[in-house]
Amino acid sequence: MGRMSKDPRVENSIHTDFTHHMTYGEYLQLDKIVDAQSSRSGHHDEMLFIIIHQVSELWMKLILHETKAAILSIEADDLSTAQKRLARVSKTQAQIIQAWDVLSTLTPSEYMEFRDSLGQASGFQSFQYRMIEFMLGYKTPHVLEIYKKDLVLHQQLEEAYREKSIYDVVIRALHKAGIPIDEEVLERDVTISYQANPSVRDAWMRVYQQTDQYWELYELGEKLVDIEDCLQQWRFRHMKTVERIIGFKKGTGGSSGVGYLKKVLDQRFFPELWDIRTEL
Ligand code: HEM
Repeated sequence: MGRMSKDPRVENSIHTDFTHHMTYGEYLQLDKIVDAQSSRSGHHDEMLFIIIHQVSELWMKLILHETKAAILSIEADDLSTAQKRLARVSKTQAQIIQAWDVLSTLTPSEYMEFRDSLGQASGFQSFQYRMIEFMLGYKTPHVLEIYKKDLVLHQQLEEAYREKSIYDVVIRALHKAGIPIDEEVLERDVTISYQANPSVRDAWMRVYQQTDQYWELYELGEKLVDIEDCLQQWRFRHMKTVERIIGFKKGTGGSSGVGYLKKVLDQRFFPELWDIRTEL
């Protein structure tokens, strides 16, 4: 036995001839992904800044994929599949919350070295983030303007803006289960951000007080709470990380910066699911 055979990676069965087979890199199109980190400033720390955004956008892609599928499952009355998908959404959100720890290693002095090279680019223009907000029911038509220069993105976002959110679909599921919901909620204009309604609060009270009878809706309600909880944690960590790196300077997107990010924290997605906790 030669010295080479002691290497645990050397096994006769390992494939090494890929002339006619697809490799790992080809399957994942890694040539595109790992070639997309072009630094504008040439500064060492810009790599972290680019990768953290790209990784977050990739996870957002999965969040959208799973949330879309969950909406379809709820509409098809398959609540257990929807729960499975939404559990994956909140686990994915945990990854992008954790990502702030890596970005926190970027100091104000390091960021200032390359901040000017971003121009007016800002996460404020994140298409996928707006798609997620629309799907969760926070409809802000003014953000559509940003995508005017890309007709495909503009159209996709406009469609999501006109679609029912996951909460609209869940409220319909409550109604289908025989729980009274006001007609004005079922017929509401879904291009407007959802506003709390007493019949929806009563419906959730019923579900949370009679869990045996409404087990699947109860579990679904908790999945929505997980998602809103994670989204708020993400927003909070973003705001605090931004304060840590730029203090109270204005954002590259033109907003007041931390002040703006604090204000966004007040916005709620599934208000009754939080309100009932005081009464239960
Ligand atoms: C040094 C790091 C970062 C700084 C200083 C920063 C700063 C800001 C500021 C000031 C805003 C408000 C809009 C503006 O005026 O630009 C904003 C918005 C936003 N940023 Fe960041 N950000 C950072 C990292 C990230 C990362 C890693 C992501 C992940 C994708 C991200 C995603 C977003 C999103 C989605 C918004 C829109 C929030 C909303 O409108 O509710 N940011 N950012």
